[in-house]
Amino acid sequence: MPKKFEIVHKRVLNPEMSQISVYAPWIAAKAKPGQFIILRSNENAERIPLTISNHDQGLITVIFQKAGAGTLDLDQLNEGDCLADMAGPLGKPTPVEGYGRVAVLGGGLGCAIALPVARGLHQAGNRVDLIAGFRNAERVILQDEMKAACTELHTCTDDGSFGFHGFVTNKLEEMIQSGVKFDQVFAIGPMPMMKFATLTAKKYKIPCMISMCPLMIDGTGMCGCCRVTVDGEIKFACVDGPDFDGYKVDFDEAIARNRTYKEFEDKKREEHICRLTGEVRK
Ligand code: FES
Repeated sequence: MPKKFEIVHKRVLNPEMSQISVYAPWIAAKAKPGQFIILRSNENAERIPLTISNHDQGLITVIFQKAGAGTLDLDQLNEGDCLADMAGPLGKPTPVEGYGRVAVLGGGLGCAIALPVARGLHQAGNRVDLIAGFRNAERVILQDEMKAACTELHTCTDDGSFGFHGFVTNKLEEMIQSGVKFDQVFAIGPMPMMKFATLTAKKYKIPCMISMCPLMIDGTGMCGCCRVTVDGEIKFACVDGPDFDGYKVDFDEAIARNRTYKEFEDKKREEHICRLTGEVRK
């Protein structure tokens, strides 16, 4: 029997992303598509919010990008190591019933979140076109898992080195112009990608749900860190979301807020990585 919060499986997906499955059966039993957890790799580490990519047999699977000090710390842990703690499931589940034909757009790490959402929509009886975008062939992840989670998978790369050459919004537009009628779009990924996915969906009068990924601290509506403006009102992504009607989200404000700690994160990252060897310092 694994220990509480033990990393039972770890998989390197590409040079920037890793996947871990952590033993937390009480969270796995309640998790639904679109929900997330907050974990700490050790008692002094920062709290990292991560969407639940899968939950099965008492394990919570999450995917993270080694982007800042916290995720670099997390990546130091291996199978058999234990996290300090994990809280969840947090946030409202994504509503998955009764849309018809749905396009789910995932961008980069957003594909890890798009995967359970697509799976939930597909299992609920919708026809799901999963449009997954990456920078290049080297960054492409989760092909088998995504194929199994949707009706049809369309993989895109910015440089054309794998699949469709272009952005996920280009692929969405191409499909719409070729006569595909979508009843709903879901967009999950970096804020600018979700902004442009919303604008594309709006152009064709298709409702668009997006999954907000702002900075978070407590994840329970107490700190206000994750606030976003939706339809002129302040909402907290951790308890009111993470899904919101893309038409109503103030993306420009959200993008500016997400950059607040960029300089600090860049500095921390530099401190963490040895310039000579490229190794991560503990
Ligand atoms: S993370 Fe603190 S209110 Fe949402």
